[in-house]
Amino acid sequence: MPLVSAKEMLVKAKEGHYAVGQFNINNLEWTKAILLAAEKAKSPVILGVSEGAGKYMTGYKTVVGMVTPMIESLGITVPVAIHLDHGSFEGAKAAIEAGFTSITFDGSHYGIEENIAKTKEIVEICHAKGISVEAEVGSIGGEEDGVVGAGECADPKECKMVADLGIDFLAAGIGNIHGKYPANWAGLNFDVLAAIQEETGTLPLVLHGGTGIPEEMIKKAINLGVSKINVNTECQLEFAEATRKYIEAGKDLEGKGFDPRKLLKPGTDAITDIVIKKMEIFGSVGKAE
Ligand code: 13P
Repeated sequence: MPLVSAKEMLVKAKEGHYAVGQFNINNLEWTKAILLAAEKAKSPVILGVSEGAGKYMTGYKTVVGMVTPMIESLGITVPVAIHLDHGSFEGAKAAIEAGFTSITFDGSHYGIEENIAKTKEIVEICHAKGISVEAEVGSIGGEEDGVVGAGECADPKECKMVADLGIDFLAAGIGNIHGKYPANWAGLNFDVLAAIQEETGTLPLVLHGGTGIPEEMIKKAINLGVSKINVNTECQLEFAEATRKYIEAGKDLEGKGFDPRKLLKPGTDAITDIVIKKMEIFGSVGKAE
């Protein structure tokens, strides 16, 4: 199946009370592992590309040029969207130009007026091309230079103003953060989530920082309107652990164990396994049959 926008898959997820995972990619192995997981689980999937990962892969055109033929050569039949994660205004335009089928414009660090003006422009450009748009209100915390931000909660009224721009889905801070959660994390703020959904009607909501959120909280968030969950760090941790075990067991020193196709295989397989587990928790397994 060719690349699709994320709009239809999230409307269906909302109606069916499950969530579609956005799993971030970094290279060929990551992409292959996630696509194979989605096909095995018969689940729709969103491949997330941060601006940093886009640069690492030498640009958005390289990413689209890798993903598109890979879908065909692996015989992937489930819907796949390629989505810019936390895009800047200029980054969003570059990803649109390169053929991404879905975009986050993250204007959460601007004042609400500027966030609205810029989001509006991105929506016009994207919708003219059939590309879905995620907007962001309320910053998602996380660890940067050793300082852990708590994760700010979005103002439901501001969420309504941004939702009214005709965006396809909305990421709103509800105490979630990127990376590992600190031991003293207060958890997701479900009152704020419920208030945001009340203001935004049936708009699919997005939960960032999917790594390490307990299963019951994920399920409750889906019940309250979350239809897309972003996971990045957890795939990195699984990859690193499986690769470390391979090297610590001395397997790279046995025969041709140093061949990158062998060396990277345990980590790649570990990504496939964790993605399938996440899809089971999110309830998206079998939804692309
Ligand atoms: P984690 O790295 O915490 O899973 O968050 C991913 C994310 O929200 C990407 O936008």
